Amino acid sequence: LVLILDFGSQYTHLITRRIRSLSVFSLCISGTFPLSSITSLNPKVVILSGGPHSVHADDSPSFADGFVEWAQSNGVFVLGICYGLHLLVQRLGGEVRVGEKQEYGRMEIEVEKSCGIFGGKKVGDRQVVWMSHGDEAATLPNGFEVVARSQQGAVAAVEDKDRRFYGLQYHPEVTHSPEGMETLRSFLFEVCGVNAGWKMEDVMDEEIKVINNMVGSDDHVICALSGGVDSTVAATLVHRAIGDRLHCIFVDNGLLRYKERERVMETFERDLHLPVTCVDATEQFLSKLKGVVDPELKRKIIGKEFICVFDAFAKELENNLGKKPAFLVQGTLYPDVIESCPPPGTGRTHSHTIKSHHNVGGLPKDMKLKLIEPLKLLFKDEVRQLGRILTVPYSFLKRHPFPGPGLAVRVLGDVTENNALDTLRQVDEIFIQSIKDAGIYDSIWQAFAVFLPVKSVGVQGDQRTHSHVVALRAVTSQDGMTADWYHFEREFLDDVVQKICNNVRGVNRVALDITSKPPSTIEWE
Ligand code: XMP
Repeated sequence: LVLILDFGSQYTHLITRRIRSLSVFSLCISGTFPLSSITSLNPKVVILSGGPHSVHADDSPSFADGFVEWAQSNGVFVLGICYGLHLLVQRLGGEVRVGEKQEYGRMEIEVEKSCGIFGGKKVGDRQVVWMSHGDEAATLPNGFEVVARSQQGAVAAVEDKDRRFYGLQYHPEVTHSPEGMETLRSFLFEVCGVNAGWKMEDVMDEEIKVINNMVGSDDHVICALSGGVDSTVAATLVHRAIGDRLHCIFVDNGLLRYKERERVMETFERDLHLPVTCVDATEQFLSKLKGVVDPELKRKIIGKEFICVFDAFAKELENNLGKKPAFLVQGTLYPDVIESCPPPGTGRTHSHTIKSHHNVGGLPKDMKLKLIEPLKLLFKDEVRQLGRILTVPYSFLKRHPFPGPGLAVRVLGDVTENNALDTLRQVDEIFIQSIKDAGIYDSIWQAFAVFLPVKSVGVQGDQRTHSHVVALRAVTSQDGMTADWYHFEREFLDDVVQKICNNVRGVNRVALDITSKPPSTIEWE
């Protein structure tokens, strides 16, 4: 295991992903967690991430006392990146100072001493890297040596070979450091001697074992299927582990897309052969959402209603089986966990609870079912990979993500007013169908329409209209944590807007959202 201690850098999750892409399992936990959280994971390598702080600030986060001693006596390799390097230098008796010249953006560094971290690079070799720091290592702790310097003379890479400490002032994990992957590879394989053996097949076997250990041989489990990638893969995995003791439910909460219920149920039966009970809870959800405009409150209400529906389903099963189901499966992913659990004390901004995803943050405390979350350490593309191994049909795996709270977070304001849900369904269907027809569905991470609670003046059929405005959003992304807006062809947009305004009553204006994440989120609420 390669463990990443997170000190709040916006790039921390990228380090995790890059290392996994080298077939090495990596996990990320808050850098301020107690020593026992680190030692219990028994990592071979620990990477200290960057962060927005200066080590001199009063509230700057740091690793637990005893970490360095534990690493040394257990033969653990430690790599500090940017702020992580400063921490290492400061805690080992060196000095960190505000640099004479701050370094932001692309810089050249030059190798001063041959070192395993740079593979076969020789003294004098140069490479372009991405720097983003104000502080710099001014005096190194005893035993440390400079391996590379920036073109401005700042320390760019260090090593203390005997004690297995390494440091990089720049960010090897970002694509702006073109040789960064090579550096991570050399560090892990050549310096630390890590084995590249992590495979999705192993993840599957391991998860099946974990589920079997967790669930007793006569326990029953329920799973809510949404028709999306995550819950489908999670259900298929649990089914593989416990067979027919898994009972699936599909909840129509009245917040689904156009004909979603019919389409999804048909596919579950035809392709998955998983027995699924369909529950129509439209009234139950919409009556609770009436008059609610606050986005967080909407999510909390929806999360709570979902659990009520599951509880009722569990009770019904109990009557039929003579035994209470004990577990609930959820398709929670790693980004949900990271975004819902910001590392305490880091002061990080991007990972503050941005939204309480219903499958993590919104669970009521009195929930009676225990959770099985077999995907909670995986990123979306890894879940798709696992799905392929589990032979989940391609039609499921390629679907764009759809949020648990459904169209409620795409109708701004009260979802029960202005015929908003129906209008949105029609607009969304036209948009998505056009995207499929244009053959660009698979190039887009997620596309959808948003209903705005504002009216604008228009002219349709020689008449003045005062109708609603909708927005279209399409983004590209790797994992949903950052995103860029998708650049459509002008003709495509012309065509979609015309179709929407001609076919959907009550809409006379269409806006296109061209904001990336950050500063926006993908969903509007
Ligand atoms: P945001 O809007 O936070 O979304 O940039 C990132 C990704 O997560 C999806 N999303 C959710 N998924 N429950 C979910 O299961 C939720 O409450 C939720 N909110 C957002 C969103 O669609 C995007 O793919």
